[in-house]
Amino acid sequence: VTLLKVQTIPDIRRQLDPIRAERRVIGLVPTMGALHAGHASLIKRAREECDTVVVSIFVNPLQFGPDEDYLRYPRPIEKDLAVCSDYGVDLVFAPEVGDIYTVPQLTFAEVTRLDAHLCGPFRPGHFRGVATVVLKLFNITCPDRAYFGEKDYQQLCIIRRMVEDLNLAVTIVPMPIFREPDGLAMSSRNVYLQPGERASATVLIRALETARKSIQSGERKPDVVKEAAKHVFSTEGSVRPDYLEIVDTREVQPVSEITGAVRIAGAVWVGRTRLIDNVEASPS
Ligand code: PAF
Repeated sequence: VTLLKVQTIPDIRRQLDPIRAERRVIGLVPTMGALHAGHASLIKRAREECDTVVVSIFVNPLQFGPDEDYLRYPRPIEKDLAVCSDYGVDLVFAPEVGDIYTVPQLTFAEVTRLDAHLCGPFRPGHFRGVATVVLKLFNITCPDRAYFGEKDYQQLCIIRRMVEDLNLAVTIVPMPIFREPDGLAMSSRNVYLQPGERASATVLIRALETARKSIQSGERKPDVVKEAAKHVFSTEGSVRPDYLEIVDTREVQPVSEITGAVRIAGAVWVGRTRLIDNVEASPS
């Protein structure tokens, strides 16, 4: 079977309608392209669990702030199609902005509370843009299963909650973070890093691991754990942290005491590049 690339909503619906009529399982991997090994692991899992695998590639303007990297976001479409073909994807849905936003968008999906911390305050409107486009992609492709990486942990929680709150008939499948050998989380934005910045970028995972060890060795006070992590940041003067926070695993709210499983999440600026990462931690 060969990979088919479609651009318009009527075309993707035309492709998927007969598949759905046969009650075959449709898996969707929503992406913004610039596919890396993390995306590949989502596609691989979808291939194992579904009859038909759809990858969407769409750099969604609605989730970028006015001063963010929408225009310079990488768009290596030929390379992405080769990755999709290698991993046995059936359909690539690659719409243009005009296909998705035919009229000005006046209706939005917003998951309140879950956007109040971590990246929310630093990227106003971002998660509304994500939730809105993901809901549109779900309504366009009607997948049985949809795959999201834990690297964007807050995004994953928000989409899960939207599915639960709005009774969407899709199963969300979370997938673990894929890392470079030195621990840096795979991200399409890693290509922005200048050669001199690449080594400094690992300070984020080093700070998160330090926090995790502190929790595992019995520390229950978030402030004490955060202080240890901040010390790691201070060793890389060129890196500017946005936040490092310890949150519950469901609603991503900062905890006042660490009594069970938590997520430690952080965001840093390395030069002009903003990177995020997170790890799970439990008191032993
Ligand atoms: O994680 C991403 O690549 C994007 O936020 C998503 C989920 C494809 C929505 O545009």
